[in-house]
Amino acid sequence: MVQFLIFACSDSRVSPTNILNLRPGESFMARNIANLVPEFNKLKHAGVGAIIEYAILALKVEVIVVIGHSRCGGITRLISLPDDETSYDFIDDWVSIGEPAKAKVIAEHPGASGEELQTLVEKSVRNSLRNLLSYPYVESGIANNTLKLLGRYYDFVRGEFQKLDDDDDIKPTTNIQESD
Ligand SMILES: *[C@@H]1O[C@H](CO)[C@@H](O)[C@H](O)[C@H]1NC(C)=O
Ligand SMILES: [Zn+2]
Repeated sequence: MVQFLIFACSDSRVSPTNILNLRPGESFMARNIANLVPEFNKLKHAGVGAIIEYAILALKVEVIVVIGHSRCGGITRLISLPDDETSYDFIDDWVSIGEPAKAKVIAEHPGASGEELQTLVEKSVRNSLRNLLSYPYVESGIANNTLKLLGRYYDFVRGEFQKLDDDDDIKPTTNIQESD
C-alpha cells in the first residue's frame, strides 16, 4: 500500500527513499526545486495539483511529508530575489511560492543572512503545509481523519533528519479552528 506522499527537493543529495528507508511502492514522490507546494490553482502548477489529487483520491495515501533541507539552492535563490539581476524563465516564479515564508523571516530577523537560512527552510516547509490545506482533497482527508501532514528538516551534512522545532506533527485542523 502506498502510504506516503513525499515532497522533497530535486537536489539528489536529499533522497527520501534512503533517509526514510522506504521500500519500492511505499511512497509517491513529488520532487521539485526547494520542495515547494503552491496554493491550489487550476491555472498554474498543474503537475503538482495532479500529484496531490492522485495521491489522495486514487492511492489513498495516509501521510503527506514535506522535507526541507540544508544548503538548498532554491531557497538561496529565493533569498536573493529581487536584488539579483539574472532573470530566469521559470525558476523565480517557482521559488516565489516561498515568499510568504521569506517575509516572515525578514520581519522576525531584519538583516537576516546565513544563520537564518535554516529558519527560512523551515518556514517555507510550514508555508507549503499551509498551502496543502487549500486543496479540497487534503482538507477533506484531514476532516475525515484519514490524512496527516508532516514537516521535516534534513541536514545532509550532519546526516540529521528532524521534526520542525516547535511542533511534532502539524495538526492543521486545529490550526484552522484557532484562526477562525
Ligand atoms: C471524506 O469522507 C467523505 C464522506 O465519506 C468522502 O466523500 C470523501 O471522499 C472523503 N475524503 C477523502 C479525501 O477521502
Ligand atoms: Zn534544495
